[in-house]
Amino acid sequence: MTQPEALGPVGILGGTGPLGRALGVRFARAGLSVALGSRDAERAATIAAELATPGLVGVDNPTAARCPIVLVAVPYEGHAALLAGLADTLADRLVIDCVNPLGFDKRGPYALAVPAGSAAEEAAELLPRSRVIAAFHHLSAPLVADESVTSLDCDVLVLGEDRDDVAIGQALAEHLPGVRGHYAGRLRNAGQVEALTANLIAINRRYRAHSGIRVTGLEQPR
Ligand SMILES: NC(=O)c1ccc[n+]([C@@H]2O[C@H](COP(=O)([O-])OP(=O)(O)OC[C@H]3O[C@@H](n4cnc5c(N)ncnc54)[C@H](OP(=O)(O)O)[C@@H]3O)[C@@H](O)[C@H]2O)c1
Repeated sequence: MTQPEALGPVGILGGTGPLGRALGVRFARAGLSVALGSRDAERAATIAAELATPGLVGVDNPTAARCPIVLVAVPYEGHAALLAGLADTLADRLVIDCVNPLGFDKRGPYALAVPAGSAAEEAAELLPRSRVIAAFHHLSAPLVADESVTSLDCDVLVLGEDRDDVAIGQALAEHLPGVRGHYAGRLRNAGQVEALTANLIAINRRYRAHSGIRVTGLEQPR
């Protein structure tokens, strides 16, 4: 596994939400430096203090965006405006988009149509000077946050255009216990990966579960 120091600090835009907090704590416990970002630095600092995890701090989103690896963990409604505003800061960064464009109505969750094809492709369009990949869509934040869970027992699909960038995404995923990271295609394939989360949420609601995915047939070294 890539050593934590080789991955460098990780910033998380929208890091105060369930996914950002859960991943931030797990990454920090694995030895990474993590900056949870927020629109409100004070809110981020308060949440980071509550999480009380060495290596994890709370900052505003522009500060988190200065990290060499930056996860995007905001609702789709805020995705485009946030990234457009941070495009200069995010230049040359590895940006990992985790956003699932989903809607919810009385019939349950469903995938939203995204003009760019996917949230990840939208990010790539808005951030032409960044290296954009996509990952972590299918993790259940409550499961990741549950300290009693010692193995998350699931896979993370990593999509992107550049092999080295995808490898960093895989290495980051594998800092989570019981997780394997797999290359799953180029960004043009991100739409269905993001949309699959609607199915997982429907499964979770019906069976009161925290479902994830496992890819079979990959026992050989990748
Ligand atoms: N929750 C999960 O299990 C999970 C799993 C995989 C992927 N995801 C994806 O990850 C993303 C984050 O999920 P989440 O459940 O953590 O979301 P969330 O709680 O709804 O949002 C995360 C944070 O985003 C910030 N935010 C909210 N609205 C915003 C806006 N309009 N513009 C900019 N920032 C805004 C808020 O932070 P501040 O108020 O502090 O700025 C909030 O704490 C979503 O796109 C989701 O589809 C979630």
